[in-house]
Amino acid sequence: MSFMEPFRIKTVEHLPNPTREERLKLLHESGYNPFQVKDKYVTFDLWTDSGTAAMSHHQWAAMLETSEGCISPDSFDTFADTINRLTGFPHILPVHQGRAAEHILFSVLAEPGSTVFSNTMYITGRANAELNGAVVVDVPSQQVEGGDFNGDLDCVRLQEELRRVDVGKSMVVMTLTSNNQAGQPVSMANIKHVSEICKTHDVSLFMDGCRFAENAYFIKTRTKVYRDVSARDIALEMFSHFDGMYMSAKKDGLCNIGGFFATRLSDVYGQFKRRMTYTEGNPSYGGLSSRDLEAVAVGLWEGTDDRYLKYRIEILAMFGDILKKAGVPIVEPVGSAIYINAARCLPHIPTEQYPAWALHCALYIEGGIRCSHVHDVLKVDSTNKREDPQPQHFIRLSIPRRTYTLSHLIHIGDIFKNVLEKRGSISGFCIKNSSGHYFSAVMEPVRKCFVG
Ligand SMILES: Cc1ncc(COP(=O)(O)O)c(C=O)c1O
Repeated sequence: MSFMEPFRIKTVEHLPNPTREERLKLLHESGYNPFQVKDKYVTFDLWTDSGTAAMSHHQWAAMLETSEGCISPDSFDTFADTINRLTGFPHILPVHQGRAAEHILFSVLAEPGSTVFSNTMYITGRANAELNGAVVVDVPSQQVEGGDFNGDLDCVRLQEELRRVDVGKSMVVMTLTSNNQAGQPVSMANIKHVSEICKTHDVSLFMDGCRFAENAYFIKTRTKVYRDVSARDIALEMFSHFDGMYMSAKKDGLCNIGGFFATRLSDVYGQFKRRMTYTEGNPSYGGLSSRDLEAVAVGLWEGTDDRYLKYRIEILAMFGDILKKAGVPIVEPVGSAIYINAARCLPHIPTEQYPAWALHCALYIEGGIRCSHVHDVLKVDSTNKREDPQPQHFIRLSIPRRTYTLSHLIHIGDIFKNVLEKRGSISGFCIKNSSGHYFSAVMEPVRKCFVG
């Protein structure tokens, strides 16, 4: 069967279309920092897949039909019933986005002396755990070239680590799919094993479930016994091994805002519920309007549908193939996003001249593409000295859900091809002013003419 997007388009948003000269000028004015270029001048914004999904007519209709209220709105019942059906967790609380749930959960469960173990902890989860005095330890599995489940957690290391910490204050968070492991999925076998270890040591196990539906579909396609099981049933089985989860609905929830916390632990639920009133508001709306709650409920249902997930996972894989054909070195197999080894794309640019930054700037000039970086400038100080002894130069292309069509991605493949054809003319960069964060760094090309 050939590929097709399983939707038709009702509302059209015109793609921003600055000329090459305008892009050159904008990039120069931004201090050669694509993160400083206004969204309206970015043709393909692949910086994030978070909050960038196109919502469906069912979501918009549910938003219009609901009434606004905050004491006991119907929208909360719809929201909680949907999440209960999808996850099996009895206690559900809305929050305005994922990091709000992290903030509240860790203020309940983390304290000085706590250790939080993870396959890889997302940056805001780490920051929120550390804010409460916890130490976060990533125990990712060894990456297997071409491995199906490179998001797994290393169970041997977890057991060793649990022997040396205060288990009474510790917990495990599994991130699905594993953002910092190139968006790779976690296997059902690994989830079960981690859950058994947690039970043996009496340690609670939570899921950062931003991309749980994609993870479930990867399990379906990459594990023989799950071939004929729906993603929703696979997800239910995944959740049965956890004590609870938090989720940013801005990813697999197909929403532009929203999130939730769900658990089977009634004491944690009670504490979360009390604390959330200080930062998110009443537990029946959690910083969201009724229309947001409705959009999340419908979005979560659509985002776990097999037909939708087949399209989503296939378009990611097809985009990977398009890029490979264009000669782009990508991380394989493709997970929830595309990771590109910029150092291999631009071998003439030494590590201290930031090949990922150079590739990003060249992509913006060539076709108005914005992406994100993994390591590179994120890990250096203003003296251009690298903190990381093993620098990796990757860019990440995140694909907003239901937003770009296959022909957009084919076009992006052509932009990459053009960039690689003139790679010799692309200059490295130096930091003019790091200002402590890549978002506002001012950069300068090492050569006068930085791209041909
Ligand atoms: C794995 C993961 N966890 C948590 C978050 C935080 O979610 P939010 O941006 O809704 O606060 C993100 C956001 O990108 C994420 O990718």
